[in-house]
Amino acid sequence: MVIHRVLFVCLGNFCRSPLAEGALRALVEAEDDAAGFVIDSAGTAGWHAGNPPDARAVAAARARGIDIRGQRSRQVRREDFEDFDLLLAMDDSNARCLARLAPGDRAYKVRLFLDYAPEQELREVPDPYYGGEEGFGRVLDLVEAAARGLLRSLRTAVPHAPSPSCKE
Ligand code: 4NP
Repeated sequence: MVIHRVLFVCLGNFCRSPLAEGALRALVEAEDDAAGFVIDSAGTAGWHAGNPPDARAVAAARARGIDIRGQRSRQVRREDFEDFDLLLAMDDSNARCLARLAPGDRAYKVRLFLDYAPEQELREVPDPYYGGEEGFGRVLDLVEAAARGLLRSLRTAVPHAPSPSCKE
C-alpha cells in the first residue's frame, strides 16, 4: 500500500497549518483511509513550540467537527525533507523559507497548498493571527477545499511504470 506523507507548514504552526492538518486528517478518517497517510504540521518559526493551537483555531475546527486539541506546535527541521513526500506551504513566504532550508535537491517537495484548490481565488492562505474569529472560518473553507483537491490529485496520480527498456 502506498503511504502518503504530508507536512503542512505555516509561520507559527499555531493557526493555519494545524487547521490544514486537522482538515486532511478528518477527511481521510471519514473515508476510512487514515492508514494510508502520515500527516503532520510545523512552523518556519519556533515561537509556539510545544503549545497547542490558538484557541480560536481550536474553536473554529470544533464547530466543523474537527478536533485539533491534541496537536503541539513545532518548528520545521531538515529531516522533514526526508520524512515527508510533500511539504505544503500556506503562503509564498513559508514556501520561500522552506526552499532555502531544503537540503540538496529536496526543494521539489515544496508546494503551495492552495495549488490543490485552483477553483479558489486566493493562492495563499491568509494569516488569521492578528484578525478576528471570522478569519479562522475562512482559513477552514480554504484548507478543506485544498484537502479535497489534494486527495483527488493523489488518487488520480499515475504510478510510475517501468519503461519497456527496463524490462529487457
Ligand atoms: P500561523 O499564524 O503562521 O498561521 O500559525 C501565526 C501565529 C503566530 C504568530 C504569527 C502568525 N506570531 O507572531 O506569534
